[in-house]
Formats: sequence, structure tokens, C-alpha cells
Amino acid sequence: MSIRTIIEPFRIKSVEPIRWTTRAQREKLLHDAHGNLFLLPADDVLIDLLTDSGTGAMSTYQWGAIMEGDESYAGSKSYNRFRDSIQDIFGYRHVIPTHQGRAAERILFNVMVKRGQIVPNNTHFDTTRANLEFVGGVAMDLVIPEGKQPSLKHPFKGNMDVAALETVIAREGRDKIPLVMLTVTNNSGGGQPVSMENAKAVSAVCRKHGIPLYFDACRFAENAYFIKLREPGYEDKTPKEIAQEMFRLGDGCTMSAKKDGMANIGGFLCTNDDILAQQEKDLLILTEGYPTYGGLAGRDLEAIAVGVQEAVDVDYLRYRIASTAYLGNHISEHGVPIVQPPGGHAIYLDARAFVPHIPLEQFPGVALANELYLEGGIRSVEIGTLMFGKAAKMDLVRLAIPRRTYTQSHIDYVIEVILEVWRKRDQIKGLKITYEPPFLRHFTARFEQSTS
Ligand code: F0G
Repeated sequence: MSIRTIIEPFRIKSVEPIRWTTRAQREKLLHDAHGNLFLLPADDVLIDLLTDSGTGAMSTYQWGAIMEGDESYAGSKSYNRFRDSIQDIFGYRHVIPTHQGRAAERILFNVMVKRGQIVPNNTHFDTTRANLEFVGGVAMDLVIPEGKQPSLKHPFKGNMDVAALETVIAREGRDKIPLVMLTVTNNSGGGQPVSMENAKAVSAVCRKHGIPLYFDACRFAENAYFIKLREPGYEDKTPKEIAQEMFRLGDGCTMSAKKDGMANIGGFLCTNDDILAQQEKDLLILTEGYPTYGGLAGRDLEAIAVGVQEAVDVDYLRYRIASTAYLGNHISEHGVPIVQPPGGHAIYLDARAFVPHIPLEQFPGVALANELYLEGGIRSVEIGTLMFGKAAKMDLVRLAIPRRTYTQSHIDYVIEVILEVWRKRDQIKGLKITYEPPFLRHFTARFEQSTS
């Protein structure tokens, strides 16, 4: 093992300036945004950790490939390159491009799920749950109990509870369960990985009962690298071999290429089932586009074809996972409560432990996220009472790290700001909601400081 610093495995060819603001300016900006970071102009954010989705930097190879995009409506050669690159890793017979992950989810559930049927998942991401519920399906989250305790360390906190899956199948019957899903890594559970052993066990249960297994593969490469690091027997395998092995356990996948596709837009849906694929393509034509482009331009297909291969590069993944852990470990050494261990794409602050004096109805996560902005111009996102209402089991603040975008000194700055806010945590005040829309309120809700 080398003891040298793990450096960014790239040099920078094109830069995008970011802009400082003063605390007084940020106070006014946040006030004008009604205390909701979603309503800020992005230009007034110094370090934007709102999401890792579509916010990464593309490589020179991706930009080069973009120039070769074939914009033919039908039979584009960019589609062939896209399909071949994806099949090389994912191995599925049919590759259907979509404009992003949620479009793949919508089509999959429309074709596979009938009203009242249940889909078990380790944890459904919000759009996955919403698309499933929209067709009348029931989303069931079956992550292992360890996955629900923020401070508990476990190498594969994204694992599915296999015994619970068996129980659900026995209770509900095979016909009530049109498919099972595994989300790798488990975003809503803290970006935690699923082990190969667990994926094999889930796959065996599914095969025994004749239930198809689909992966929500958004962060498949990060998951593969965690397996390489943590699961005995995988040390000497490449991330690509590990990903290939995992996908062989399933029947298809949904994918947002805005994450481990290393692209700014795009997604796809894969299946081995010829009949389903036909139905999916029929639906695709209705709203996304012809099956050789989905909702994308030929150039986007090219960026993804190159991007998925770069995502499984071992030097990239070593840096990626190390830089996320670097942020998590540095703040946690100073006592800052985070979801442990650090995940692949993000660090999650445990707001209930960070600001225990703020009652849940005064949105501790939003109050903390807002303070990070006021202190240092950092934008993060609350995942808690604002997003899920009273059903929220945790109040987390997610600091998602865009791929290949920020350097170690940016992350050092983020650490300094978090530690400053940690020192002043007693002074952070709760918030009161002054406006909320009927659904998805986190995007547009308005706040003022609570006086109580
Ligand atoms: N599945 C998971 C696990 C996700 O994290 C996301 C998106 C999707 C599906 C949907 O993909 O955005 O391309 O339609 N997650 C983003 C995030 C939005 O910030 O975590 P999409």
C-alpha cells in the first residue's frame, strides 16, 4: 500500500470560475430565496454540493466523442457505440436509452407493475418510489436493520434483508411481486454499498420464485469499488469484472447516466426479456423518442458510451472513494455526527445530533444546511422532515460530491466551514414554514426564523 497522498487522477484543461460573496451578501441572498437553498441562483453558491447528478466534469475523451455524435433520427451509429459500451459492462440483451433515470423507471413500472402489486427494494430513491406509486404499485423498503442507524459502522449497510424478502414473498405470494430491485449504492440510505454476497442471496431467492431482479444501477461503479475494497475474494478483480458479475445476477436495470455514466444528462433501461423490451420501446416512442436515441441527442449517447467505461477505471474510483471518505473522516474526527461509514458519492450530516436543541417541527436539517451556506457559501440539501414530513426517520444534510469537479483544497475549505458551524452550533435557530405547495414541498417551500 502506498502511503503517498491520493491525488486527483487528472489535470485540469478547462476551468469554470466560482465566485465569493460576503456573509452580509449571503444573508440577503438567502432571505431573498425565502430561506430555501433550491431557490438560490447557482451563481451565488461557492461550492455546490446539492447533488452529484449531472454535475460532474467530462473528460477530454468524452468531449472528443461528442463531436462524433451521429444525429440521425433512426439507426444512428452513436447508438451502436452506446449499446456496445453498456453491454460490455452490464451484459443485458436490450439497451433502451432514456433522457434520465426516472424515465427508465416510469417505463419499467408501466410495463411490469399492476395496481396493488408490491416491489421490494433495499431503499427506493424518491423518483423510483413516486413512479411506482403513480402506476398504483406499493414500494417496500427492506434494507438491513444496520442500514437505518446513522452512527453504526458496517461494510455493506446497503444490503437487503434477505429473510425479510422471503417473508414478504411467502406472505404476499409470488404473483403479487412483479419484480425485486436492488439500488447500488443505496442513495437514500447514505450512499452505502451492497455486497456481492447479498446480491447473490437476493438473486437466488428471486430465481427460486421466478421473480425478475432489476438493479437501480446509478452508482454501480462506486458499489463495485467498495466490493473490491471490503469483500473477501474480490481484492484482485477489476471494478469492471465485479460490475459484470453483479449484473449477471439480475434480469435488467434502470440507470441514470448523470451519476456513474459520467454525463450531464441521460439514462437507460436494460432487460433480457424480448417481450418486455418490445413493450418498453413502444412506450419509449410515445414520450421519449425513437429507440436508437430515447430522449437524447446522438452526442449525449457518445458521452455516456465513453463515460461508463471511465467510471470503472480503478485510479478514478480510488480517488473518488478516498475523497468522499476524506471529507467524512476529517469532520467526524472532530465529533461532527455523520452517517457512518462515509458513502460513495456523499457525506450525510446527522442534523438531529448536530443541533439537538432544534425540535423536528422547526426543521433541524434545513436550519443546518442554511447555516453552511451563510458561513461559507456551501450548498447542501436536507433529507428529512421537510422532504418526507412526519414519516422522516432521520434528519440528514447531504453533501453530495460531483465527480471530478472539486479538488482537495475545495474539500479542505468545506471541512473548515463545517467545523466552524460545529463550534457555533448552539446558536443555530430553528425555522418556521411560511408557504408550502401541496406536494414535493422541499423544492419551493419558504421559511423564516422561528422566534420560539
Ligand atoms: N435512482 C437513484 C438511486 C438516484 O439517486 C436517482 C437520482 C435516480 C434513481 C433518478 O435518476 O435523476 O436521472 O432521473 N438522484 C439524484 C440525486 C437526483 O440527487 O441523488 P434521474
